[in-house]
Amino acid sequence: GWADGFAELRAAPAAVQIAPQEYAPTPVWAYGGQVPGAAIRVRQGDRVQRRLVNGLDQPTTVHWHGLRIANAMDGVPGMTQDAVPPGGTFDYDFVAPDAGTYWYHPHNRTWEQLARGLAGPLIVEEAEAPEVDGEHVLVFDDWRLEPDATLSESFGNMHDLSHGGRIGNWVTVNGVGEWAGTAQRGDRLRLRLINAATARIFSLGLEGFDAWVVALDGQPLEVPQRVEQVGLGPAQRVDLIADVTGTDEAMIISYEADGGYAVAAFAVSGDGAARDAAPVALPPNPVPALGSLDNAPVAELRMEGGAMGRMRGAMLGGEQVPMRELVGAGKAWALNGMADMPEEPLIEAALGETVRVRMINDTAWPHAMHLHGHHFRQLRADGPGPLRDTILMQRGETVEVAFVADNPGDWLFHCHMVEHSAAGMMTWMRVV
Ligand code: C2O
Ligand code: CU
Ligand code: CU
Repeated sequence: GWADGFAELRAAPAAVQIAPQEYAPTPVWAYGGQVPGAAIRVRQGDRVQRRLVNGLDQPTTVHWHGLRIANAMDGVPGMTQDAVPPGGTFDYDFVAPDAGTYWYHPHNRTWEQLARGLAGPLIVEEAEAPEVDGEHVLVFDDWRLEPDATLSESFGNMHDLSHGGRIGNWVTVNGVGEWAGTAQRGDRLRLRLINAATARIFSLGLEGFDAWVVALDGQPLEVPQRVEQVGLGPAQRVDLIADVTGTDEAMIISYEADGGYAVAAFAVSGDGAARDAAPVALPPNPVPALGSLDNAPVAELRMEGGAMGRMRGAMLGGEQVPMRELVGAGKAWALNGMADMPEEPLIEAALGETVRVRMINDTAWPHAMHLHGHHFRQLRADGPGPLRDTILMQRGETVEVAFVADNPGDWLFHCHMVEHSAAGMMTWMRVV
């Protein structure tokens, strides 16, 4: 049936002005002809209905990153649904259980489809949102452009695959090189930052603001945390409450190896005074509390490989294969010695069970490990940390996370440097 509630979400080629005006528009792939796709904005507990229409010349799906929704709506081809062929449609229909900042992106050939521009914000508003003077969703992305501002067709050469992923040469915020907004001095703003890049880790400075982190990956912090800088790994989100203190400008600056430059700038007018009170915490989401950690099963997830890493005889198609043959097969990484998606899940959990995962980064690169359909907490010396769905692991680091397997089905667990997941860093969990 052609139900009325389904607004169309069309993935198709488009030409968009992501480079400065003196260049021609860049041919990209986009949702609804826009980069990023239009923000889908609902209230907590609302039903979301979107009909994906595939106007691309290859199959695609939509994944609703960070949402604890039914497995059949998770958008993983060959696992939760069939990929939608060119010209085909798929009806996504789910209820948003948690408030927060989320995003949507394809989950087929993600290293290409995401890099070509398919991504958009999904904002789930709290039933009672804190009062602010303004709100901005800021989607950070990067592109690999040719000198004529067309997209490079290199979405992941062997160098990218086996190093830090496809790092672009052009950074955008909401699709433009320098996003410009306006504010009154003294305004309190809510800024929702989303990293939609395939592999880039943003390191962002905040100038002309007093800022507090109020949520990570959509999940509220118990106590807002004052910050001057924000690190944003691939797929991660940070919600800030930012009081405008600058006299004529307030800026978000992207720090690069060779310096830094403004990627978002607010022209400030007026001479109001910033409130000197910290913001109150956002209301918590109904994410289940961790059960006893002592009895929880511990899964081990070892990351291996990369150009400078070791690969202890990774398995590909059930056989031990040396590194150079793996690379020839487009594989550069392994999880627990497997460079292919394992047939057996890494974790098999009973519904409601508390699970621990010890992740060991035995490589020389950072990785952004993401679990579908759940939010985990990092277990620290001083107790469980905040809820997240994507954790940035530094090279050589070991991190333990715990979560309640409260969502039945098969869920991917992968590196969100999507060239890495394509090249071997992909496993899964079954909750029954
Ligand atoms: Cu946003 Cu499987 O990822
Ligand atoms: Cu996800
Ligand atoms: Cu990785």
